[in-house]
Amino acid sequence: MSKSIYHIAPGGRLSGRLRVPGDKSISHRAVILGALAEGITAVEGLLEGADVLATIAAFRAMGVAMDGPQGGQLRIHGVGLHGLQEPLAPLDCGNSGTAMRLLAGVLAGQSFASTLVGDASLQQRPMGRILTPLTAMGAQIRAADGRAPLHINGARLHGIHYVMPIASAQVKSAILLAGLYAEGESCVTEPAPTRDHSERMLAGFGYTLRRQGPQACLRGGGRLQGQTTLAVPADISSAAFFLLGASIAPGSDICLEGVGINPTRTGVIEILTRMGARIELTNLREVGGEPVADIRVRSAPLRGIRIPRHLVPLAIDEFPAIFVAAACATGETIIEGAAELRVKESDRIAVMAAGLKALGVDVAEHPEGARIRGGPVGGGIISSHGDHRVAMAFAMAGLAASQPIRIEDCANVATSFPDFPRLAREAGLALQVLEA
Ligand code: S3P
Repeated sequence: MSKSIYHIAPGGRLSGRLRVPGDKSISHRAVILGALAEGITAVEGLLEGADVLATIAAFRAMGVAMDGPQGGQLRIHGVGLHGLQEPLAPLDCGNSGTAMRLLAGVLAGQSFASTLVGDASLQQRPMGRILTPLTAMGAQIRAADGRAPLHINGARLHGIHYVMPIASAQVKSAILLAGLYAEGESCVTEPAPTRDHSERMLAGFGYTLRRQGPQACLRGGGRLQGQTTLAVPADISSAAFFLLGASIAPGSDICLEGVGINPTRTGVIEILTRMGARIELTNLREVGGEPVADIRVRSAPLRGIRIPRHLVPLAIDEFPAIFVAAACATGETIIEGAAELRVKESDRIAVMAAGLKALGVDVAEHPEGARIRGGPVGGGIISSHGDHRVAMAFAMAGLAASQPIRIEDCANVATSFPDFPRLAREAGLALQVLEA
C-alpha cells in the first residue's frame, strides 16, 4: 500500500460552509441492520470510507445484495435475521474495530462457521472484552491471546445480563446483536454512557428494546423491518478536526452542515467550549432517529482545563484533536481516566505525546492520560502510526505552527474521511499530499 505523507505549510485560517462525510458508527450499523432486516433499506449519506466498505464486503460475502455505494447511497436487499450464507473465505475487517466487534456479535449466533481477520493494528487490539460476554451467551469463538483472527463456530445462544467493566459501545452493540439470536432476554449495563446508535437504530428497524438508565435489554426471536430510507448525519468525529482548526486559526469562521449531535457524542463540543471555543449550534433537527445541527465555529483564544472524567467516553474519538487544542491553549490541560485511548487504532496517548513533543510542545504522558502545557507550536516530522485521527489532528496543528509539519503514514485517513485533504484545502489549510 502506498504510504501517503501530508505536508502542511504553517498558518492560514478556515472559512466557508462544508459538509463532512457520514457518521462512521451509524454507517456500520445501517449496513449491518439493513442486511439483517426484511426488505429493502435505502441508506443516504453513508460514509464510503474503507472501514464501512469492509462491513459492506463482509455482508456481500454472506450473500447480501447491495446496490452502491455511490454518492453516499446504498440500497440493501435485506435477507432477514436468518438469511445469511456461510462465507467462503475469512471476512476482512481491515482497520476497523467496530466492524470486527459488531460482526462477531452477529456471527456468534449463525448456523455456520466464519473467521474474522484484520490489519496489523486491528490484530493488536483487545478482543477479550467481547469474547467474555459472547462466550457467556454460549458463543464458540477461538482467538489466540484474545486477539484477531477470530474463528467463530455458529452456536445456539442464550440471553445474559452483563455488566460491562469498561464503557464501550462496541461491546454493548456486540451483545445486543448476539441477543437478536439468543433465547430469552439479553441485558447490558454500562458503567458510563456510551454512543447509543445501535439502540436507536434497532428501534428504527422496529425491534423492541427496553432502555432503563444505564441498561438496554432485548429479547431474541424478533424481526427487523427494512426502512424505506435511512439518512446518516455527518460525522461529529470528522467535524472535530474543523472545530479544532477554526478555533486555533485566528480569523476563521466556518459552518459545518448537518452534523450529528447525539448527546453521547458531543463531549468534544463541551470540552472545547469549556476551553473558550466559540461554537454555535443552529438549525437543530432530527435525521434518521438522530439529532443533527449546523455548527458554526469562529476562532477564539483557548485556555487549558482539567477535562472532567465523565466527558471522556463522550469524546473518546476526539482526543487527538483535543491534544492539539490543548497545545494551542494558554495554560495546562489535564486528561485523566482515558486509558482506553491506548487501545484505539494506535496508542493515542503515546503517539499524540510523541508528536506534540516533536513540535516542541511540553507534554507529560501518564498511564491514563496526559498533561499538556500550551505554548508555541513549531514544525517537524511526525509519524501518525497509521492512525487516521492522529494524522488529521496534526494536519490542523499546521494552522497554529510556526514551521512546516510533515506527517508520515497518512493513508489510513481513507478509513474514516477519504476526502479530508480536499475539504481541508478548500476550507483554507495549506495541505499537500505526497506519495512515498
Ligand atoms: C465505536 C465505539 C468506540 C469508538 C469507535 C467506534 C462504535 O469504541 O472509539 O471509534 O461505533 O461503537 P469503543 O466501544 O471501544 O469505546
